[in-house]
Amino acid sequence: MKIIGTGSALPEKVVTNDMLASFLETSDSWITTRTGIQTRRLLSKETLSELAMTAATAALESAGVAPENIDYLICSNVANSYVTPSLSSIILGPLGCKCPCTDLNGACTGFIYALDIADAFIKTGRAKNILIVAAEEPSRFCNWHERETSVLFADGAGAVVVTKGEGFKDFILTGDTHTDVLYYKRSLETTPFDRVEEKTVPLVMQGREVFKLAVRSCIRDVDTILERNNMTGSDIDMYLLHQANFRINDSIREHLEQPKEKFPTNMQKYGNTSSASIPILMDELSRAGELKDGMNVLLSAFGGGFVTGASILRWNGITYKDATENE
Ligand code: ACO
Repeated sequence: MKIIGTGSALPEKVVTNDMLASFLETSDSWITTRTGIQTRRLLSKETLSELAMTAATAALESAGVAPENIDYLICSNVANSYVTPSLSSIILGPLGCKCPCTDLNGACTGFIYALDIADAFIKTGRAKNILIVAAEEPSRFCNWHERETSVLFADGAGAVVVTKGEGFKDFILTGDTHTDVLYYKRSLETTPFDRVEEKTVPLVMQGREVFKLAVRSCIRDVDTILERNNMTGSDIDMYLLHQANFRINDSIREHLEQPKEKFPTNMQKYGNTSSASIPILMDELSRAGELKDGMNVLLSAFGGGFVTGASILRWNGITYKDATENE
């Protein structure tokens, strides 16, 4: 499987650390030094499905694939305004796709989980072209009165079109049950059958525990996938890691003893956009010409669950219509 098109979309509303400090007991210097995040984008006038459609349309255009030639649409999404129908169902028709569609919730690892599923469909010949859209609005379930979580998360969407080809070499996916370290619970109305009413619990996170789990699991996944492909850290040209916290990514970089240039970031501008973070970064780098044909790229992410994923691929150059505008 290879990636032949990318797209991304971000909300217009830019929220600075100082804006958060106006109603939370926090500061620009705390957020910047602990996380690397300086600004983030939050949905205000737009909806998540609109962002998802913009990212998907850009990915389809750059791939040169018409929506009716998509054989499967997979959305990676933790929560949006609808519980049902799925986000993929909501955007399928307006996009002009005429294919099966489904959502998956792999928390921040959802994009890599979606790629792995797409790879299986393409390898078995069940689909030729697959559209993957990772679209997330953590602002919906953050507790905006709590500084521990609300300063970290943000909204955004990234998309890719994949098809048969020589790109992805390998995937590693893991799962483990750690429900207590990171969760968001929806409310439940009582039923006539002895179910106790539950209240919505906005995002709860044990930050230090998540930090340790993230570093440990990413290092484990990256080491394993490199070793089983007879590669070392130096063989990778670009590491596209989940954009949660620059200190997590720097710990992985230090372990691999690789230069900073191989670890591009955008969490300073966009915060943690959950599973959308890697495809947004990928789209930006590809459009800027920094992801070049033939480069070895490693993806790695971790997220609530606890689920993790990593993948190695050889990048196939993509030509964008608006490339000259970006130069
Ligand atoms: N502003 C100011 N002070 C704060 C804030 C804030 N926003 N948040 C916490 N503090 C305070 C704490 O209350 C604590 O105060 P105390 O010393 O008086 O008790 C102090 O800062 C230190 O708190 P820690 O939690 O120990 O700070 P830490 O250095 O661990 O940084 C952080 C916290 C940034 C959350 C870090 O643990 C982290 O990044 N963890 C990983 C989070 C993450 O990546 N989550 C998402 C992953 S999964 C996914 O992406 C879905």
